[in-house]
Formats: sequence, C-alpha cells, structure tokens
Amino acid sequence: MPQNAISNQRQLFLRHVAQTSPSPLSLEIVKAKGCKLYDNKGKEYIDLIAGISVCNVGHRHPKVIKAIKKQADNYLHLLVYGEMIETPQVQYAKLLTDHLPKSLNAVYFTNSGTEATEGAMKLAKRVTGRTQMIAFNQSYHGSTQGALSVMGDEYWRNAFRPLLPDILHLEYNSPEAINEITERTACVIAETIQAEKGVYAPLKQWLKLLRKKCSETGTLLILDEIQTGFGRTGSLWGFEKFNIVPDIILLGKALGGGMPLGAFVANKKLMNLFTENPVLGHITTFGGHPVCCAAGLAAMKVLLNEKLVDRVHEKEFLFRECLQHPRIKAIRSRGLLMALELDTAADVIQVAASCLRKGVLTDWFLFAPHCIRIAPPLTIKEKEIREACLVMVEVLNKI
Ligand SMILES: Cc1ncc(COP(=O)(O)O)c(C=O)c1O
Repeated sequence: MPQNAISNQRQLFLRHVAQTSPSPLSLEIVKAKGCKLYDNKGKEYIDLIAGISVCNVGHRHPKVIKAIKKQADNYLHLLVYGEMIETPQVQYAKLLTDHLPKSLNAVYFTNSGTEATEGAMKLAKRVTGRTQMIAFNQSYHGSTQGALSVMGDEYWRNAFRPLLPDILHLEYNSPEAINEITERTACVIAETIQAEKGVYAPLKQWLKLLRKKCSETGTLLILDEIQTGFGRTGSLWGFEKFNIVPDIILLGKALGGGMPLGAFVANKKLMNLFTENPVLGHITTFGGHPVCCAAGLAAMKVLLNEKLVDRVHEKEFLFRECLQHPRIKAIRSRGLLMALELDTAADVIQVAASCLRKGVLTDWFLFAPHCIRIAPPLTIKEKEIREACLVMVEVLNKI
C-alpha cells in the first residue's frame, strides 16, 4: 500500500471513527490467523490478549470461517429475535445447555455482553418483583446504563448519573457482603473470577455461602462468565471449579467465535416470564444473529473436539515458568487469564509499548493498570509462548 494511503487511513480513523480514548492502539491489521496478527506494513504480532478473551479458538479458525460462509449462503437476518426457528440458534442453544447444569436450560441470545447483563437484571426484577441489586467493587459487567449501574467503580459511573437506584456495591469475597443479602434483594451479580481487577478469584467457601444466602432469601445469583467462559480458566465454565450452580449465567466474548454475540442462560420457567405481563419482556432485533450463532457453534465444537480446555493449565504453567523476573511482583492466573503485576501503571505502559514494537501484543486491566494482561487464544503453541515470553523478559530487563 502506498505511504500516503497508509497515513490517510490513520487520519480518517482519527477524524471519523468515534474514539474511546486519547491514545488508541492504532494498529492497522490486515490479516489475522491463529495467534498471529499482521499489519499493513507486513509486521507480525503474537496476540497475547485474543481480542480481550474473544478468540479462544484462535483468529479465523478454518471451521469457524466455513460455518460463517455456509450460513451467509443460506440466510442473514430474517426477523426480530424469537420469532423464526433458525437452525444455528437452535443448535447452539442445544449445545450450550447440553454442557451446562440441567437447571440452566434456556438461552436468550443477545448481541453483546452488556446486553446479556441488561437482560439478566430485568429477568431478576421480573422473577422476584424486587428492585435491590447487589454488585461488587471492581467488577465489570458492561457499559450500557443498567450494566454501568452495577459497575464496581465510581470513577466510571459518576459522569453518567443518575443510574439505576437501589444498587449496593460491596466488597467481593467479604463476609459482610453475604450479610447484606436479604428478602429485598432481587439479585447478586458477580464475576466468577474478577477479571478487570487483575484476576482475583474468590474463596471457594465464600462463593458457596453466597449461593446459600441467595437460595435462602429467594435472591437470584447471576454469575458473569463473559470473560471466564469457554475454557479460559481451565474448565469449560469458571463456576465449575467452585461446585455451585448460579441461577443465571452471562456469556459473551468467546461465545461468538469472533462474531458479536452475547447470551444469558437461566431456567426455562424463569425465562418464560418474558412472554407475558408484558409480552415481549425483553426484545432485540439482531440478538442471536444466524451468522454469529453459526460461528459460535462451530467455535464451541472446535473447543470441545480439539480438547483445548485440557491443555490450558499446561500452557499457564509454561507462561509462569518463562516469566520469572524480578520486575514482576506477582503473577495471578486462573488458566490463561493472567495478570503480571508490575510496580506502576507507567511501567505497564512502557512494557506494553516496547513489546508491541517487538511484535507482542499485551494489554492492561480496567481496574488494575499496574498489571499486564495475558489472555491469549487457547490454541497458542508452546513455541509462541516461549517466543513471546522471551520478548517480555528482554523488555523487562530494560525498564
Ligand atoms: C466480565 C465482563 N462482563 C461484561 C462485559 C461486557 O461485554 P461487551 O463488551 O460485549 O458488552 C465484559 C467486557 O469486557 C466483561 O469483561
């Protein structure tokens, strides 16, 4: 591509595409495959963040691409969600519920994770007739106004007030939080593992007590598995390792195999409440788009058939082994969701920028800017892990 066309794209991006920060990454990627990204200048990057836990089966897995093309040859959008019997949607709901506890047997497909949060919050109100919701500090559930209301940091909420009333923000993993759940509480919403806090897992006993108190008070327990689902933490779902079953789970990110898709999954008896008083209790035009469902279905089959989840811990340990460095204060990991804690956010910016120059893409966390995010495609090869870690160590040696 001629030089002026290259800079022109960049200018157009900055001028006409709405920005979310003063310093976007601004890579111009022209191709992605497996764990690699390729930019417009032919430079190759190892992707250590998988589009923020999206591309669990790698970029453009051939089976996902085949499913997308096949579905595009049949039909795209037909009608608003829930009216037509669309095979990719039906088959995907069946596969998902086959791999979830029996009580989680009805899938409501949305376009994104935040819409899954919205739908689940509405369902909790509808089921319980209550309004109070409990959420946790330093949790992230999305950016629309309902999801923002349960976001765990006032810095991000403040400019958009008034938000939903009757929300209690409590400390994750604390006994006090459990005491606050009462017969006034519609739902408790929690990430199974707090990702954006920099990968914090709760105590098994705490999550069990949370489940127990919710059952005692008729409160719905919503677990957000948008980042932790689809094998990311070394089991298909994060909550499996805690021996509890939530009332609703939220899915997104890897759910669509690289296409936009979200879902909340609950028991059919609860979900049916959306069909009456009022009818169309939650609606979406594009939710569960057939191409996205076809892609997600193919990606989940790849995940299961290639037994990718079985190798997650082995890869996690290899990262941990290769990333021994005095500048890394701590490594918190749950499978291939890892946070490398440095001294300061400025160090993280410097390390991420140097890694990028050397062809390794990393990131930070919303509530932990002093931590480097590592969450690569689960398909990452041993050679790629070693290569990426070597670059990171080289960079850390110089800060
Ligand atoms: C735990 C969690 N919940 C919800 C969301 C929101 O998903 P989306 O960006 O698709 O709306 C995210 C996105 O990062 C997330 O990490």
